[in-house]
Amino acid sequence: MPINLLLVDDQAEVLDGLKLVFKKSEHEVFAASSGEQAVQILNSERIDVVLTDFNLGAGMDGLAVLRHANALPVPPAVILLTAFGTIEGAVEALKDGAFNYLTKPVNVKELRAVIDKASEHNLLIRENQELRARIDRHFNIEGMIGETSQMQQIYEKVRLIAPTKASVLILGESGTGKEVLAKAIHQASPRARKPFVAVHCAALPETLLESELFGHERGAFTGAVSKRQGRFELASGGTIFLDEIGEIPLAMQVKLLRVLEAREIQRVGGNETVSVDVRILAATNRDLTEEVAEGRFREDLFYRLNVVSVTLPPLRVRRGDIPLLVRHFLEDFARDNNRDVPEVSREAMEQLVNYHWPGNVRELRNIMENTFVFLRGKTILPENLPAGFSKPTAEPAEGLAFPLGLPLEQVETDYLKRTLAACDGNRTRAAESLCISRRTLQRRIKELGIED
Ligand SMILES: Nc1ncnc2c1ncn2[C@@H]1O[C@H](COP(=O)(O)OP(=O)(O)OP(=O)(O)O)[C@@H](O)[C@H]1O
Ligand SMILES: [Mg+2]
Repeated sequence: MPINLLLVDDQAEVLDGLKLVFKKSEHEVFAASSGEQAVQILNSERIDVVLTDFNLGAGMDGLAVLRHANALPVPPAVILLTAFGTIEGAVEALKDGAFNYLTKPVNVKELRAVIDKASEHNLLIRENQELRARIDRHFNIEGMIGETSQMQQIYEKVRLIAPTKASVLILGESGTGKEVLAKAIHQASPRARKPFVAVHCAALPETLLESELFGHERGAFTGAVSKRQGRFELASGGTIFLDEIGEIPLAMQVKLLRVLEAREIQRVGGNETVSVDVRILAATNRDLTEEVAEGRFREDLFYRLNVVSVTLPPLRVRRGDIPLLVRHFLEDFARDNNRDVPEVSREAMEQLVNYHWPGNVRELRNIMENTFVFLRGKTILPENLPAGFSKPTAEPAEGLAFPLGLPLEQVETDYLKRTLAACDGNRTRAAESLCISRRTLQRRIKELGIED
């Protein structure tokens, strides 16, 4: 990885010697013969690594250069050169944020190794900054991280439906972000300043659910000591989110249907009807069409709720978003705990990207939190990840069903196309998820005549 390297030494011979070491390297080399000159270069060039002598004659010393470097918006890695007798100072410098130090006379091999390490470190930092910038760019929908085409399609849909009053049915496996999406729709809607009220339908028994949703009059049932407003009334002017709608009992479904049709409710134990202005969002990880077919979910309610539906993709079909999500969660945890945001090594990130994530984004968040809590160093390495991450899984794209009797080639063609699409056309990732080499994949793509 080529870097911009700044060499600082007040002794011309030493400086020339150092320049010579890196003359044939891929790095761009800058040289300064004083601390002041080093500062000038640091201010005008984007330096990745600084190698500076500790003693720099009359003016600023190496420590002052280090401090200046550390105060830059993108601090370079600083390596100090120390002569015998200044080692204690160098150790101090490490505490001040120096990347490392070397003692004179310099061993060339060691020097190259340290510079390599420093540039690798710098590269990780820069990659993370790049991720940060991408998060900022794609964070346009409140709270939702992701820039893959699958997520872009969701954002586009949200932009279209948010301003309307249409009911939205949000579908997707557990942990794919259905609640996040519901909040995002609310936030992007003209109702954003009014309440967002979430009801977890599965958590409540039928009788409680009714009074929870619609409220009750005083004395409506034992324990109803005073009149109470239900969630529909509390959400007035705003949005109600009916989570796990697939779990509500049939009797309640009838009542809900009435609300959706008439936009009015009746409190439990009352006969007054109260009209409510509430937008309804609902979510489920069940297959509602199947529930309808089996008679567990009312068809009329299904059509009322399903005016617009949005299906969140499982994380394993949008693996391209994993690095962004990882970075986003680490930043969250670091902020909450007043710690630095750790870097993630390449190998660790690769494992995270290759895992099949049955629990989707929620599982990823949990794993990252677990890793963060127990992390001692500054960089997450594979061994810091919980066990079970070492083997990439060959989880195929979703929803593939092939009737028996198809020509095998057709099945393979279809399958490869779907896998490629799920990997955003990235052949390396597709090959990984298929557990074949990239070369084999290329060959089959060619043989089967698959266009990207
Ligand atoms: N696109 C996303 N960007 C950032 N965080 C996300 C995203 N999707 C999900 N999350 C996070 O993942 C976790 C699970 O999300 P959420 O509760 O919305 O999932 P869900 O689909 O409602 O799951 P369930 O069906 O189990 O209720 C939350 O911590 C949420 O913040
Ligand atoms: Mg949920």
